[in-house]
Amino acid sequence: MFRFRISALILVIVVCISVWAYWEIRRAENQIREMIAEEPSAVFVAGRLEEYTQAGVYTKFKDPHAVWLVRLSEGKLVAIRSICTHLGCTPDWQANEKKFHCPCHGSEFDMNGLNISGPAKRPLERHKIYLDGETIMVDKSTTFHGELDQWTQADSFVLPQS
Ligand code: FES
Repeated sequence: MFRFRISALILVIVVCISVWAYWEIRRAENQIREMIAEEPSAVFVAGRLEEYTQAGVYTKFKDPHAVWLVRLSEGKLVAIRSICTHLGCTPDWQANEKKFHCPCHGSEFDMNGLNISGPAKRPLERHKIYLDGETIMVDKSTTFHGELDQWTQADSFVLPQS
């Protein structure tokens, strides 16, 4: 009789642990699914070409995507990553001086993203930019580095027809 009680107790414990483990695994699966669903996409829509007719820096995607859309004087439209290449702070666009200024250690970059003063040793990076019809798309999973002569590569800029 005693052996039966011990066996029954062990069986109850095993069943309880199994049920608990099952629910913990289900809960972890749901958390992982939610995290994947919330992961922001690397690709975003940046509007249409007619929104960028004037040369200059367009700042509306800085906060949501850490990207400046910049229409360069030669007409190219580029997507500059708003992360300082020194130690990763976020520079500000200073329209009056026409340069990006990093508040952390004073690096400055011109409108092209070229480093012009301060401790940053390389230009700001550019993201992939391309057209889907008339819609501008930016893909943050791909970057182009000026110091590696990658700014002439396809998809490092869009050149709107004039
Ligand atoms: S992080 Fe920008 S200058 Fe140091």
